[in-house]
Amino acid sequence: MSVDDLIFVVSDDLIYTYSAKRFLEDRMPKVVILRIGHRVFRDSRVTTHVCLTARALGADQVIIADHEDKVVESTIRDVTNRFGGPFDVQSGKPWKQAIRDWRAIGGRIVHLTAYGLPLPKTLPEIQETDKDLLVVVGSEKMPGEIFKVADWNVSVTNQPMSEVAALAIFLDWFKQHREFGHEFSKARVQIVPSRSGKEIQQLST
Ligand SMILES: C[S@@+](CC[C@H](N)C(=O)[O-])C[C@H]1O[C@@H](n2cnc3c(N)ncnc32)[C@H](O)[C@@H]1O
Repeated sequence: MSVDDLIFVVSDDLIYTYSAKRFLEDRMPKVVILRIGHRVFRDSRVTTHVCLTARALGADQVIIADHEDKVVESTIRDVTNRFGGPFDVQSGKPWKQAIRDWRAIGGRIVHLTAYGLPLPKTLPEIQETDKDLLVVVGSEKMPGEIFKVADWNVSVTNQPMSEVAALAIFLDWFKQHREFGHEFSKARVQIVPSRSGKEIQQLST
């Protein structure tokens, strides 16, 4: 089956048409990042990098917990409008609510922390789940409850590092390097890989 084929799904008396690509995407477990501890202004740049990294490496959404940050939201929406999606960002939801909502839909939770079990050890179990995955990253000291609510506390080495780096390595391992082939929809522009110089191609939408 090619990713461009059309397929038909019959549900009760309804018939839907889908592209096979869309059909497969709808059935792929979603990966959402929960950013806890964001401080407006002080962390805006790092949180923007969390969002950019999540998007580039094939995650579906970032939830910036507790504090509304419309500047970060609008920066990321602008990137998604130009370079494609789908990718969503929202801010302000209390982290406990985000966890409750996630549990209510049956999702699983990974907490990235230097104190957790090593990624190579935990990954096979995480990859076995067909449930949506919430990946929690912090900024400053994390609430102790997070360690209890997580299905997996995962370390990317047991050394302190940046949440951006930890997230990038987790997503790369979780997606088994397939994010290099990730296709973005509705892009207006795309970067043309180049040995030297910068080339951007305008796309017709
Ligand atoms: C800069 S660290 C600060 C952590 C804070 N000092 C604490 O004790 O919780 C910010 C976030 O990066 C992530 N992080 C840092 N080092 C990590 C590691 N080795 N493995 C996985 N995640 C890590 C965690 O999500 C952490 O909450």
